[in-house]
Amino acid sequence: MNCNIVTIPGDGIGPEIVREACKVLDKVGEVYGHTFQYTKILMGGCSIDEYGVPLTDEALETAKKSDAVLLGAVGGNVGNSKWYDVAPNLRPEAGLLAIRKGLNLFANLRPAYLYNELADACPLKKENIGDGFDMIIVRELTGGLYFGERHTEEADGVLQATDTLTYNENEIRRIAIKAFDIAMKRRKHVISVDKANVLDSSRLWRKVVEEVAKDYPEVKLEHMLVDNCAMQLVMNPGQFDVVLTENMFGDILSDEASMITGSIGMLSSASLNETKFGMYEPSHGSAPDIAGKDLANPIATVLSAAMMLRYSFDMDKEADAIEAAVQQVLTDGYRTGDIYSEGCKKVGTIEMGDLIAARIR
Ligand code: NAD
Ligand code: IPM
Ligand code: MN
Repeated sequence: MNCNIVTIPGDGIGPEIVREACKVLDKVGEVYGHTFQYTKILMGGCSIDEYGVPLTDEALETAKKSDAVLLGAVGGNVGNSKWYDVAPNLRPEAGLLAIRKGLNLFANLRPAYLYNELADACPLKKENIGDGFDMIIVRELTGGLYFGERHTEEADGVLQATDTLTYNENEIRRIAIKAFDIAMKRRKHVISVDKANVLDSSRLWRKVVEEVAKDYPEVKLEHMLVDNCAMQLVMNPGQFDVVLTENMFGDILSDEASMITGSIGMLSSASLNETKFGMYEPSHGSAPDIAGKDLANPIATVLSAAMMLRYSFDMDKEADAIEAAVQQVLTDGYRTGDIYSEGCKKVGTIEMGDLIAARIR
């Protein structure tokens, strides 16, 4: 197969991790007889520097015409970068929101799985880890606070800022359907996370999710308040199968879930629309603190590339091969600094990419 992939290296560690993911994809191509062609576009801070905006219309059009998009990360040091003190639509993150909206990528899947080999890197106690965990966070990605109206005004010398959170029932229904469809292929258990004790949007969320659940009698549905969920994730992560939630809650809970897998550098993600098209992106950011030092863990991006093969290209055995190669590298004791524990072999970003590519069978 010949696949036309748009890459968005972005800022910070983005170029370093995308390079390793492409290295692994190229090895898959070699072994399985596929050609992956890459077209690079700019997004985020690097696009602001080049064109004055975080995403040009041309770049978005190029992404639309591709078979799938592979993203590193965008953004600088928040609060302390040249891209911070500007209008909201001119910030690096605005490029990311624009491409998500522009490609209608409403479903963000973030699988959090504990490899046995990384139990020592997991900050939880053994009793909390139990038999391990394997969950997928299904996060709504094109609605809620991220896309509400926002403005800052001053009245009588007092500054006031507003962000609005809106969901309509159609937006909730389509992401709920996605979560239940995924649950049918897993352990048939959905925990829908909201704040229905306070927010109207969460009450509507709950109502619509319950309606959708009626079409999936085999799937067990539970509701959980988001604050409780944050606590349950570290107390008993093994209870979660599919976690369905809105945009902002999903953002926060997925960073928490990533850390219990050992590191945020392990958490892959797929951002999908109603078709087979998707953008594949690690859940972490551009990590300006470690950029350019060969310290970044590329595994989240490599596993995101595996999700691309599975969801956009129907290449299940190729995706399995990437996942098996990652597993083998961990079994062989190689670790980047973020997942390092005593007795393991510490490697940098590039070597980790080489080691994974070499294990593609
Ligand atoms: P971050 O995820 O970039 O970093 C948080 C911490 O995790 C840092 O200490 C960093 O070094 C570490 N880390 C992250 N990824 C790692 C990896 N692969 N290997 C090893 N360590 C890793 O979050 P932040 O510092 O809050 O944000 C930095 C910038 O990234 C901001 O501009 C933010 O807006 C942006 N961001 C972008 C995306 C994206 O493009 N998808 C996602 C999240 C944050
Ligand atoms: C993520 C990131 C983004 C988000 C930011 C950079 C806009 O944190 O993909 O998790 O909040 O969605
Ligand atoms: Mn995030």
